[in-house]
Amino acid sequence: MLPVLHIAQEKLGGYLSVDIMDYVASLLGLNPMEVYEVATFYSMFYLEKMGKYILEVCHTGPCAICGGEEVLQHIKDYLHIETGETTPDGMFTLKEVECLGACGSGPSMQVNTEFYEHMTSKGVEKIIEDLRNKSEDGQSTGWAEQFS
Ligand code: FES
Repeated sequence: MLPVLHIAQEKLGGYLSVDIMDYVASLLGLNPMEVYEVATFYSMFYLEKMGKYILEVCHTGPCAICGGEEVLQHIKDYLHIETGETTPDGMFTLKEVECLGACGSGPSMQVNTEFYEHMTSKGVEKIIEDLRNKSEDGQSTGWAEQFS
């Protein structure tokens, strides 16, 4: 089910609507509830439209101790959004996630398929501006482009 959900998310609009989850259930011969349970459990599946770039900031203890909370707050202030929100231009969505598996080099953040460690407030501003510039240049960096 996981690979099918990944493909469905990427090819059918970037998130898993109820209709899409129902379709996956019918495709796999499953009860729709089984698909809902999986889609709502994993943070890499989205149940609503997301920004082009999804900033997933680790908020687990080791990263928080290393400055993750300050970095997270800086992103909120810089983009003028709260956790779970998307910038009005549809460019960035901010999420807080559990451990990303890089506890020794936190604060850590994942942006779509890219991974960032030892984040600082200044560093995260550069990441955001680089992503904006890539987008303006038409470079392929979003989820949909990476999997098409
Ligand atoms: Fe942040 Fe593990 S605690 S990556």
